[in-house]
Amino acid sequence: MTPHLSRRAFLAASAATALPLPALALSGHRLRAAPARVRLVPEPWGETDVWSYGGTVPGPVLRARQGERLSVTVENALSAPTTVHWHGLRLPNAMDGVPHLTQAPIAPGASFTYAFDLPDAGTFWYHPHMQSAEQVGRGLYGALIVEEDTAPRVDHDTIWVLDDWRLTPEAAISDDFGQRHDQSHAGRLGNTVTINGTVPEGVALRPGARIRLRLVNAANARIFGLDFGPLIPRIIALDGQPVTPHAPEGGMVTLAPAQRADLILDMPATSGARVSITDRFYPQAAYALVDLVAEGAPLRDSPPNWPVALAPNPLPEPDLSGAIRHEVTFTGGAMGGMVTRDMGIKTAHHGNGFWFLNGQAGEGHDHPPLLLLEEGRSHVISMTNATAFPHPIHLHGHSFRVLGRNGRPTQHLEWRDTVLMAPRERVEICFVADNPGDWMFHCHILEHQAAGMMAVLRVG
Ligand code: C2O
Ligand code: CU
Repeated sequence: MTPHLSRRAFLAASAATALPLPALALSGHRLRAAPARVRLVPEPWGETDVWSYGGTVPGPVLRARQGERLSVTVENALSAPTTVHWHGLRLPNAMDGVPHLTQAPIAPGASFTYAFDLPDAGTFWYHPHMQSAEQVGRGLYGALIVEEDTAPRVDHDTIWVLDDWRLTPEAAISDDFGQRHDQSHAGRLGNTVTINGTVPEGVALRPGARIRLRLVNAANARIFGLDFGPLIPRIIALDGQPVTPHAPEGGMVTLAPAQRADLILDMPATSGARVSITDRFYPQAAYALVDLVAEGAPLRDSPPNWPVALAPNPLPEPDLSGAIRHEVTFTGGAMGGMVTRDMGIKTAHHGNGFWFLNGQAGEGHDHPPLLLLEEGRSHVISMTNATAFPHPIHLHGHSFRVLGRNGRPTQHLEWRDTVLMAPRERVEICFVADNPGDWMFHCHILEHQAAGMMAVLRVG
């Protein structure tokens, strides 16, 4: 029997767990990437051989305060070269961790020290940018939390790093990385979802407790659509950047690969109450992810009126009237020909891969730039998803405002570093190109990235 999303059968008996995360590693400022053996799925399955930072999955939570300098020495004890990318951080290009583009790969046995300032508070994460589909897929990732000077008051500040694994009946990681079907379709979807590296049944919380839940999607390909049932969360940050607190659209918190969301949740005040969180992003394959269980003496009988809004980060505000406009059309993939035909889009395709940006597949990391972005200016990139699949598109080194979708302005003009485009959707983003260098711009479905859905934007 393969471990499976519907894990109720074998978990029915387990008690509510706390979903522990490893202790902070920042005292040592060292991060060791190495093979490890961990328990992802419960008995009767065995343990799983993974690649991990510091021997655990996820790797240690790196925590620092806004404005501080972070310095981390990465030791490579893997058999393959690697790098670490600090996803969502606005840092100098040389610290971005992109092999061949911003640094030489860290060879097995070698180490590399990353050091950079942290201008923005928020929920970020780190992962390799080398053979990412395999290295992230084997368990190399961790959360990076940059704390605000004054954080909103909560009872618990909790991180959930979500992942989706493709496991064999022996609970080993299926080693079919780089499968052409995954690359040309929806990416490597797995059969086992974990939160902080375990398959949880329930999370016990005090009745009435207020929680800040920091969600990170570290999966290669799975998009989550979390429904908290009667418990309406308030979203206070997306991809680490504060947003006007709001309830999720359609009652579902959508979290594509690499995206983060910070939520405020108030537990029901009745002891014994159970809130079931379901993932219904793929409607035909909805499943119960985890239950929140109110246990113990209530902390209060109604939600506290403590403010929840976060102070903005120091992001440069783009000037829309003076912005330079660019177009990027994404094509390719299974059934892509049908979509471009319907949309009346004609593009010649160049390069090896299944996916194309303005007709070019990106091979490797070091490409001639797709766009030249004049430094210091505001730029609007109008992106068209002329494919049959959703794609979370990530830009390195900058956060951007999501201006509009299909010609309609977004409600919150949210800042993001990774924006999900639905099939056939047109999404406009805008930002000040204030960080010089060559920056990756790619789909964060790692199999798509490996199959050409990646380019370089040059700021200078
Ligand atoms: Cu999370 Cu280019 O990466
Ligand atoms: Cu994609």
